Amino acid sequence: DFFKTLEEKSDGGTLRGDYSRCDANYVVQQDWSAYTPEQHALWRRLYQRQAKLVPGRACDVFIDSLAKMDASEEIPRFDRTTEALHKATGWELVAVPGLVPDLTFFEHLANRRFPVTVWLRDPHEFDYIVEPDVFHDFFGHVPLLFNPIFADHMQQYGQGGLKALKVDGLTYLARLYWYTVEFGLMESPQGLRAYGAGILSSGGEVEYCLTAPAPRRIPFEVERVMRTLYKIDSYQETYFVIRDFQQLFEATTPDFTPYYERLKTQEALPANTLLPGEINLAPNPH
Ligand code: PHE
Ligand code: FE
Repeated sequence: DFFKTLEEKSDGGTLRGDYSRCDANYVVQQDWSAYTPEQHALWRRLYQRQAKLVPGRACDVFIDSLAKMDASEEIPRFDRTTEALHKATGWELVAVPGLVPDLTFFEHLANRRFPVTVWLRDPHEFDYIVEPDVFHDFFGHVPLLFNPIFADHMQQYGQGGLKALKVDGLTYLARLYWYTVEFGLMESPQGLRAYGAGILSSGGEVEYCLTAPAPRRIPFEVERVMRTLYKIDSYQETYFVIRDFQQLFEATTPDFTPYYERLKTQEALPANTLLPGEINLAPNPH
């Protein structure tokens, strides 16, 4: 799978989805009754494939939350999930037509609203989709919002995004999002686990990222991540590995303005870089 990056979200014209009915914040009604039986059946197939893959591969928080979300049988109704999510962490889901502009995206996150795309991919896109759909957004992103630390982290990310727009730091912040929220790995006593939504909604990368010999798996370091280019049209060449969400939260809490200033003076690193002295963690056994 690959997904358009935050930087590319603003290029309005070619986006999939019906933007004619959204409000100023790009929010729409989910119109759940408009989904067809075929779409619910496709959701069920996507869910079942992925639910089989995540045990032993996704972090515990993801597995535990997913089980509570009751989304296995049909495309979920966002308002029902919001009820449970709001009780857990104060977050709510809002329906959007698809990718939204950076400013809108950050404003939603900063206010503890997670935008979820309403449309579902077509059957021929079962394995591979260019833009995020409801399966990626909901299955990949929503479970971790039930975790208090991750929930706070996502709000801070939204606030950080609003600041990055003003101080020209978006390139760097988008790389951080890519390598954590979308493609992050985590250590566990049982070995590496995935927490990134791009991985967890993908039929192939969820195994690849943990066990394939080719990619690098480097202990997370916030400025190193923000220096690193990424691939949008193939599996990742590098994954960054956190110890736990507390580490991610603490590493991203400082003011990034001085980081951005430093990063602007440095050359970006290719996606397959391993710097001298850097640790490349062993993959999990097959
Ligand atoms: N602390 C960051 C800043 O000052 C914002 C941020 C928080 C970014 C959490 C990502 C995640 O810009
Ligand atoms: Fe995503």
